[in-house]
Amino acid sequence: MTLRKTDLPTNCHLISFDSLDSTNEEAKKLASGGAKSGTVVWAREQVLGRGRYGRTWDSPYGNLYLSIIQRPTCFPSDATQLGFVTGVALAEALLSICNIEIALKWPNDIMANGKKASGILLESSINPNKSLEWLVIGVGLNIEKFPSDIENSTSLHKEGSEVTLENVLITFLHYFFNYVEKWFNNGFDPIRERWLSLSLKKGTDIKVRLPEDVIFGTFMGIDDRGSLLIEKNSEINKIDVGDIFPMVITN
Ligand code: BTN
Repeated sequence: MTLRKTDLPTNCHLISFDSLDSTNEEAKKLASGGAKSGTVVWAREQVLGRGRYGRTWDSPYGNLYLSIIQRPTCFPSDATQLGFVTGVALAEALLSICNIEIALKWPNDIMANGKKASGILLESSINPNKSLEWLVIGVGLNIEKFPSDIENSTSLHKEGSEVTLENVLITFLHYFFNYVEKWFNNGFDPIRERWLSLSLKKGTDIKVRLPEDVIFGTFMGIDDRGSLLIEKNSEINKIDVGDIFPMVITN
């Protein structure tokens, strides 16, 4: 399938590469040089793909790697909401074209049949006056391949969906630009509601891996800024950084 400009949302400016070190690095350079909001950097392969916490993101040909530049007029602390906007848009896009179970896992992972198929990496720059200069939203989605050495990882093809890279790219970009507009016009609440409806059920027992610790508790959703709410010893704790793992009950 060949990509045509008319397939893309009107406010999207797509720049395509065969191979890059990292689409986030390229997008950050372009953003610092003044690239406009809505610029999307897409590469078919990354040789230095990065995940959260400085982890490596395996990026062979066959999967989706892109980074979107946004310049929202919001407080820097609210920009993280765009991670949830992106997660919801990607989940909706996949639900519309793949016939498999898709769910969101805090903060921004997409699970296909319960295994991780996608991750999102947000990076931003703040002006000297403390306003947000730009935000780069990096999206990696395993379509054909996945790292077999990483536990609980999968790809859409492995789970039985035969979607193509180009179809996912176009479908996702339409949902993304639509959802960003909804977020801008109506705020975070409707996004949060949709995110919750696509995520773990409240009341599920979870393990949370924090940068320096591990805690156990009950998933109670996310608050109005996207922080994780976890109940532990009858108290609700808010967590901003970490990874969650549902506890599997075995008989
Ligand atoms: C995670 O750790 O879950 C986030 C992974 C984000 C990977 C994407 S691939 C496109 C963009 N470029 C990168 O180097 N990383 C992000």
